[in-house]
Amino acid sequence: MASWHFGRQRTIIRTAMESGETLIDAPSRRFRPILFGLGAWTDHLHFGYDAVSVLRPRLLVELGTDRGESYFAFCQATVENKTDTRCFAVDNWRGDLHVGGYDEATYRQVAAHNDEHYRGFSTLVRSDFDDALPRFEDNSIDLLHVDALHTEEAVRHDLARWLPKLRAGGILLMHDVLVRNRGFGVWKVWADLMKTSRAFTFEIGPGLGVWQKGEGSAPPMLESLFTAPNESSDRLIEYYQCKAARLQQEIAQQWQDGSIRQTAFAQQTIVQVFHTRDGAHREEDSVCARIGHESWKEISISLPARSGAAPLRIDFVSAFTTIDIASIVVGSSAGEHYRADGGREFGAIRVEGDGKREPHDKSFRLKITGLDPQLYLPILNIPETVEQPVVTLRLRISSVTPND
Ligand SMILES: C[S@@+](CC[C@H](N)C(=O)[O-])C[C@H]1O[C@@H](n2cnc3c(N)ncnc32)[C@H](O)[C@@H]1O
Repeated sequence: MASWHFGRQRTIIRTAMESGETLIDAPSRRFRPILFGLGAWTDHLHFGYDAVSVLRPRLLVELGTDRGESYFAFCQATVENKTDTRCFAVDNWRGDLHVGGYDEATYRQVAAHNDEHYRGFSTLVRSDFDDALPRFEDNSIDLLHVDALHTEEAVRHDLARWLPKLRAGGILLMHDVLVRNRGFGVWKVWADLMKTSRAFTFEIGPGLGVWQKGEGSAPPMLESLFTAPNESSDRLIEYYQCKAARLQQEIAQQWQDGSIRQTAFAQQTIVQVFHTRDGAHREEDSVCARIGHESWKEISISLPARSGAAPLRIDFVSAFTTIDIASIVVGSSAGEHYRADGGREFGAIRVEGDGKREPHDKSFRLKITGLDPQLYLPILNIPETVEQPVVTLRLRISSVTPND
């Protein structure tokens, strides 16, 4: 399945009573996220909301916002708990190696949501992180969230530059501290950081690290996590697990009953290309891109050397849309290795999972019928010397099947 967040659905579904939820007096008990299920932050939304609500930071900065799942939970907490926080989201809104590239639809949607709900106190800073540094004074940030490119090198680089901006006693949140595949190295940096000051790791989903810079007191909720394990931290952890499980269940339900079509998630489609040498398709051997809908687009996805030795698989995470594909080309600096732009080549593409090919005179028309549609290309004969094959798709994604 083409997904990094749906794959993490939890099996821990307990009743409110069992989870001790009734005993928890967290601000997030009444939290209903306006946006969720957009990225990999779903499992931590309730904690993120509480962190802002109890810390009441004057200045909050997020590095890596993408579609805004984490950031807008922070903003929602600010409004609903009147924390009087100034919030800044820093991102170039182009995507990166891990999240994949994405088009302008993302920034447009984030800017529109920000404008509609949080214009008074929230600023989107569209730039590279390094370029945004001069906007913030040293020791000024109360709550810093880092969720950027996840290679060890990039994380070390970002922390070296941004930790001086965090005030003494301020709180750092680091996302994806548990992920150990796909070249993620946050866990290594986190392991080092944890030795330097008070810290706590949420071991659910992709993992969230909470770290305090230097000495300082913290609200009781964070104190109990920093001194874990204890009765109160056990209860909190269970509470957050339960909240995460509920949201994941809700997402699954939205796919089942089709209401996913009405969510913010449905405004874009993730195209995920699985490259494999042995025929087994794994998340870590895949590359993603994400695009907005309703107009023809061309996207290019670079693959590692020797891709195509086994069938390439293309998945779409797309909420019950119709996808018209005009062409799929695999090329490299050595030339074109594969082209499908009409009848015979289209006929050799296999559809599996939640997709159905529909007749169309010009394009390969694919109707998405569920969460996990897959296209398998024929085996390609790409010479082993080719270092970077590139898959280019020309396609249009429509929420309602077009007449043309
Ligand atoms: C993992 S995503 C952020 C996910 C987000 N926090 C959420 O809740 O879904 C990482 C983001 O960091 C951005 N990014 C990575 N490196 C960057 C850099 N050096 N400067 C600016 N943005 C960067 C990417 O554009 C991408 O949108």
